[in-house]
Amino acid sequence: MVSRLDGPAKVTGQAKYGADNNFPGMVHGYVLLSTIAHGEIEAMDVAAAKDAPGVLGVYTPFEPLKMQAATSPLFGETWVPLRDNEVAYYGQPIGFVVAETYEQARDAAMLVEVSYHQRPAATSLEDGLATAEDGPEHRDGAPPSLSVLAEGVESIEDAFAASPVVVEATYSTAFQNHAAMEPHSAVAVWDSDGLTVYSGNQAAYLQTAELAGALGVEPSSVRAVNPFVGGAFGGKARTSPPAFLAAAAARELDRPVKAILGREQVFTATGNRAATVQTVALGAHTDGTLIAVRHDSVCGTPADRSFVEPTSHGTSREWYSTQNLAISQKIVPLNIPPTTFMRAPGEAPGSFALESAIDELAVALRMDPIELRLRNNSAAPAGKDLQWSSKHLDECFRIGAARFGWSQRTPQGRTEGDWQVGLGTATAMFPALRFPATVGVTLQADDTAEVATSGSDPGTGLLTVLSLVGAESLDIPAERVTPRLGDSVLPPGGLSGGSTATASAGTATMLAATEVIDELLALASAPGAPFEGAEVTYEGGRVLADNGRSMSFGEVLRAVGRESIAASGSSAPGEELTKHSFSSFGAQFCEVRVHRWTREIRVSRMLGVFDAGRIINAQTARSQIMGGMIWGVSAALHEGLEVEENGRFANADFASYLLPVNADIPEVDAHFVEYPDTLHNAVGAKGIGEIGTVGMAAAVANAVYNATGVRVRHIPIVIEDLL
Ligand code: MOS
Repeated sequence: MVSRLDGPAKVTGQAKYGADNNFPGMVHGYVLLSTIAHGEIEAMDVAAAKDAPGVLGVYTPFEPLKMQAATSPLFGETWVPLRDNEVAYYGQPIGFVVAETYEQARDAAMLVEVSYHQRPAATSLEDGLATAEDGPEHRDGAPPSLSVLAEGVESIEDAFAASPVVVEATYSTAFQNHAAMEPHSAVAVWDSDGLTVYSGNQAAYLQTAELAGALGVEPSSVRAVNPFVGGAFGGKARTSPPAFLAAAAARELDRPVKAILGREQVFTATGNRAATVQTVALGAHTDGTLIAVRHDSVCGTPADRSFVEPTSHGTSREWYSTQNLAISQKIVPLNIPPTTFMRAPGEAPGSFALESAIDELAVALRMDPIELRLRNNSAAPAGKDLQWSSKHLDECFRIGAARFGWSQRTPQGRTEGDWQVGLGTATAMFPALRFPATVGVTLQADDTAEVATSGSDPGTGLLTVLSLVGAESLDIPAERVTPRLGDSVLPPGGLSGGSTATASAGTATMLAATEVIDELLALASAPGAPFEGAEVTYEGGRVLADNGRSMSFGEVLRAVGRESIAASGSSAPGEELTKHSFSSFGAQFCEVRVHRWTREIRVSRMLGVFDAGRIINAQTARSQIMGGMIWGVSAALHEGLEVEENGRFANADFASYLLPVNADIPEVDAHFVEYPDTLHNAVGAKGIGEIGTVGMAAAVANAVYNATGVRVRHIPIVIEDLL
């Protein structure tokens, strides 16, 4: 097993994250946040702050930094701070104080007096349910509400009326924060070539475009550097406020500027996962075959309606075979910190509702929940003609059931001393996607190669994957391949988001390698070269002639006086999308123990078995999946932002926003069935970034039901739910 290449640097502190960069003359910025949820800033008295020791600049909507609207090439308009005096949520960036030291900047920021004209704020999703609006189109162009009906069926109601068994319930999920270990931060430096920003992100090419847009400069004069990213999970897909503020202030002051958000600030000034309320109805024959599925979702959305958590579209539209389907997605604009992409946006909270409902149907049918799922296993998404390219979900459940001891489960759970023990399961799915990516491969005269792309590795293992796919494509040992990433000067390597990086950058690497090998062969057989006029082939890092003579690529390069040759390859989703549907699949298992008297809930065992195509690196893949499964437990039992009436998050810190610690997490068993999916891309890998968390919260809730007979339809589940 190949170890994570960036592991040693990370555990020894050698890895340099964005905020670890320091420059001569560098000064520090502190981001000032609003203390109302909705209204207008009438005035800001900055006199005392400007006079405070060490202060170099105090920027507000009234004395703003020079910035304009910015657009992300992938995600549309990006919010740029300090451009107007509107406040849309509690904890919104409304000022930026720059001083010689961080402490001076922070102290000065506390001296700024803000007067607001407050307006009524909508801060409760519950209160907004009655007036929820239709959501926008789904990201694939589907309307917010859609239905598919079998021939002769007039309405979804008729389909339910014709169903012998029907379950219907409403489920809700909490607002959550990404809680990445590295807080959002940036160091910005200007020189004669333009701007360089060191800031953790998921795609350097997106950051350069957004920063260039906001600053009114050419994208070519902005460089984004992020070789290490301390977790992102969707929360670093867009350029964060500290990066915009540091960049603009550094230009204004002609000094390098560092801006770091404190942990509490990260909770409000970046992004969160939306809370959801979802009603799921399932109608089935007595043998478990689904007749009708309805899934109506409402989610909180920022006041500017800039993000939707697409729970119905992310699950019920695709997961099971049903003749009749009706889904809808509504939104409630709220004056709370903005929601954004967070690990399996849509599928993570959506699967809690759908997979809890499937478990409820299994109970109503007195059927094993795995049997019920397999009976409704789909060959294609409901109402679509395109079959799944490769689907081995049934095998995931079979292997998982055997490994987990599922046959020991009884519908009433079991008791061990004072503990009620239950087992739960759930399906996991996440679409297999790709984004455009370019990778450069360079062969060097010392017989090493470089594989380079601007894409980022937020801990997902992309660096290791690049070296492995590069080595395989060049047919040389991985030790001879140097991977490079996380810098916008490298070939534009896509986005580390949407579980796409391996499939996207991996395919581009293969194409680039083929290209550079062709160039090598042409070079080797050109007039005056060692293999002049010969038929040459390439194998094991060597050029071979039909007479048996061979030279390594380094020897060829040296012989013709070249230090290196380079080629690039680009991949993007294409024709395959017209032929098949693509997804990763998985079966989640969980055992929980609920204490008879205290009602304490402990997870005692977890297993996930996944069908995610080819696994490039067993170690990083396993880590990735384990992290996701743990996140599922966290969603089920720990995490949830408490929104006060005034729109303030009551628990925006790591003391009160609960995250699981080692003692909460038992051994985690993750297993892959490996079926390379070359219909999706040449590498055969599908995504593993997000699917690990999908379904796990439902598996926990289903296990709690099995242990106690109590069906909890919201997460996080707390002791009080089981009293
Ligand atoms: Mo993905 S939402 O970029 O983890």
